[in-house]
Amino acid sequence: MKSIAPYWLNNILGKLLRISAILSIVLCCYSMAIAFEAPKAILMMELTKKPVAFDHVPHAELECVQCHHMVEGRQSFQMCSACHQAKDKKAENSYYKVIHNKKTANPEMSTCITCHKEIAGKDKKKRKALTGCKKSKCHE
Ligand code: HEC
Ligand code: HEC
Ligand code: HEC
Repeated sequence: MKSIAPYWLNNILGKLLRISAILSIVLCCYSMAIAFEAPKAILMMELTKKPVAFDHVPHAELECVQCHHMVEGRQSFQMCSACHQAKDKKAENSYYKVIHNKKTANPEMSTCITCHKEIAGKDKKKRKALTGCKKSKCHE
């Protein structure tokens, strides 16, 4: 096919197109990297009776998805409380349960406690700090 524009112009347009395609890929990855950065500030867990602080820093080695799990094939960075709304401890997937349950229906998922239990192993001090109630690192 014979183009209307002279050859040199086509050549430049082609290059510009390629550059802008590369640029948009780079920009897209960059903005995703920002979107996937964990908050540096200490957050307060939403639906607890007494205040409970959550810090991403000691969890930096983990994959985000270990806590911000997939829901219907999509990852969600919303607050856990956006979906785990039930304040009644005994309700299915209540806020209390997804934090404290010692087992999960889906063995690939972990609550705060199932993971902390594994991390602490037989170390008594760590068990108290990471899986205890009072005077633990979670509750005063
Ligand atoms: C050990 C579990 C855990 C890991 C790992 C984790 N997070 Fe979180 N994240 C939380 C909890 C808990 C909250 C607070 C939710 C709440 O209070 O309901 C939170 C909150 C957030 C929020 C704030 C949501 C809002 O609406 O304010 C963002 C954003 C976020 N995490 C991003 C990330 C990213 C990105 C990663 C991976 C680099 C990551 N998190 C890893 C547990 C985790
Ligand atoms: C977009 C909604 C949504 C968000 C946000 C969400 N979850 Fe879930 N979660 C669900 C659904 C739905 C289930 C039950 C289905 C399943 O097992 O996938 C579930 C199940 C779980 C389970 C497994 C319970 C069991 O016994 O198998 C855990 C643990 C859990 N969530 C923790 C969290 C944590 C911690 C956060 C916040 C960092 C969070 N979820 C954020 C919707 C959500
Ligand atoms: C998949 C594993 C995993 C999950 C899930 C997890 N944690 Fe942790 N958590 C860790 C590890 C690893 C540490 C660091 C332990 C150490 O210091 O040896 C830690 C440490 C902590 C500490 C102590 C921080 C300090 O100052 O030393 C708190 C508090 C804590 N986690 C809260 C939570 C809460 C709340 C949740 C659930 C929303 C949660 N964690 C879920 C792995 C996990």
